[in-house]
Amino acid sequence: MLATLGVVTSLTLGAALTGSPSQAQAAPEQTLVSRATTKAFAVTSAVVFNRNAASITDPRSPWVVVNKKRPLNPPQLRASARIRTDQLRVAPVAAVGASKAATKMLATYQAETGRRMQSQSAYRSYATQVSVYNASVRIRGVAATDKIIARPGTSEHQTGWAIDVSALPSNCSLSTCFANTHQGKWLSANAWRFGFLLRYPANKVAVTGYSFEPWHYRFVGPYLTTEMRRTGFTTLEEFFRLPAAPSY
Ligand code: DAL
Ligand code: ZN
Repeated sequence: MLATLGVVTSLTLGAALTGSPSQAQAAPEQTLVSRATTKAFAVTSAVVFNRNAASITDPRSPWVVVNKKRPLNPPQLRASARIRTDQLRVAPVAAVGASKAATKMLATYQAETGRRMQSQSAYRSYATQVSVYNASVRIRGVAATDKIIARPGTSEHQTGWAIDVSALPSNCSLSTCFANTHQGKWLSANAWRFGFLLRYPANKVAVTGYSFEPWHYRFVGPYLTTEMRRTGFTTLEEFFRLPAAPSY
């Protein structure tokens, strides 16, 4: 096994956590910084991923893991903590990188394909999540709603790190058939480049507690999406060795 003598600088790692797509593609190599040493041994090219680079409990962290077993604490983020950086409103907290990355992702899709997609829903306040959840309960009941909508205080949308994407013009919005649209396929293949993770995969319902949501993307930053892609993990619970959260 290759030994690594490199270190990751906090400055570079910060950029990789919340940085732009161009940083995303270069992050693994750029984060390896040779340590100046008087010892005469070679520095290899291996990179050790730092699992502790960001918090998985702090909602201001792009790695925060929120699910049915890990509610937000407090359940309602303080409005004063919000920084709205653009019309996407992806970022209620210090998620400036998420807004920029989402903007870049949608613009890149248009530039690369000539087609368009849009933000259907991004940051949601506690009050908005109450409305969304209750509206679904009235239509479907609690059991069916709990498979598709997070109870208030447990939604990634409240953190500002999540975005629901839809086609423009609309086609299969917030439906599983979005996975078969040009937009859905492109996101599935490319979102990682921009630091976004398909948060609720079809084959991980028992882990995430939610049905397949091909439109729901969670910003975790390119440093983590690159590592998850490299190692084959598709859920935050599994990557961070956390308990599955099939129910409350
Ligand atoms: N639809 C996702 C699970 C949410 O409501 O946050
Ligand atoms: Zn969503």
